[in-house]
Amino acid sequence: MPFENLLVETRERIARVTLNRPHKLNALNRATIGELGACCEQLAGDPGVGVVILTGAGEKAFVAGADINELASQTPIEGKEYGLAGQAVLNRIENLGKPVIAAVNGYALGGGCELAMACTLRIASVNARFGQPEVKLGIIPGYGGTQRLPRLVGTGRALQLLLTGEQIQADEALRIGLVNEVVAAAELLPRCEAIARLILANAPIAVRLATEAVYRGLQMPLADGLYLEATLFGLACSTEDMKEGTRAFLEKRTARFTGA
Ligand code: COA
Repeated sequence: MPFENLLVETRERIARVTLNRPHKLNALNRATIGELGACCEQLAGDPGVGVVILTGAGEKAFVAGADINELASQTPIEGKEYGLAGQAVLNRIENLGKPVIAAVNGYALGGGCELAMACTLRIASVNARFGQPEVKLGIIPGYGGTQRLPRLVGTGRALQLLLTGEQIQADEALRIGLVNEVVAAAELLPRCEAIARLILANAPIAVRLATEAVYRGLQMPLADGLYLEATLFGLACSTEDMKEGTRAFLEKRTARFTGA
């Protein structure tokens, strides 16, 4: 299905989704959020897609936030619904069942930073800028920023970003653990594709179970998270790919995983 505000292109099991409103720095309006949700459903159900790369059109922005034109006129009830609808889409990204790599190519502010944080990995170009400037607009983050940011960078650093609304540069985002890597702008998509290929070479069910163990485990006390890990480990032992992976190692050859 063609989208108005997204470009979607799949090659060699890597789907590249580009948020495509560069004249508005890819700000997330309702239509774009809706399309992103529909796109996630398609990608989740497409066996031809193993990894997703999410990026922004143009050279300036990944996503410069929720669309302030729409925010400006909403009622309290609309505001709550808007937050919940956006959270649902970001939750879907986090729980897609396949890794989503944010290729952060410029401003990732407000909803853009929140969107990047919902992705499995974040790779930034040197010109990326991160921030949660909502307090400058008299609001707070509504797409998970108050929850995912402290989980990623710690309470103190999260509160500094949330309360000052200041932007940080890519190297600072790397230092505090908000992004995984920083690369030259020209290297951003090639690097994300290289990481995607490393993941695609591994057993798909194992990749999925490891991701689930991390995200679910983070919501649990350690003992319960460890129990979940052991249970998912047991589940991985039931797969054909586990037999193939261990056999290939013992036979000193490359494993041929089928996702079964
Ligand atoms: N919502 C709606 N429109 C936005 C937007 C947003 N979050 N961010 C940028 N735009 C629009 C601008 O209004 C402008 O549109 P126009 O050309 O029709 O006037 C266009 O995108 C280009 O942005 P501009 O502000 O001219 O670019 P800049 O290089 O001077 O500044 C930013 C870049 C990112 C610093 C600035 O656009 C900005 O502060 N954006 C808002 C960030 C924000 O507060 N996000 C959180 C929202 S909750």
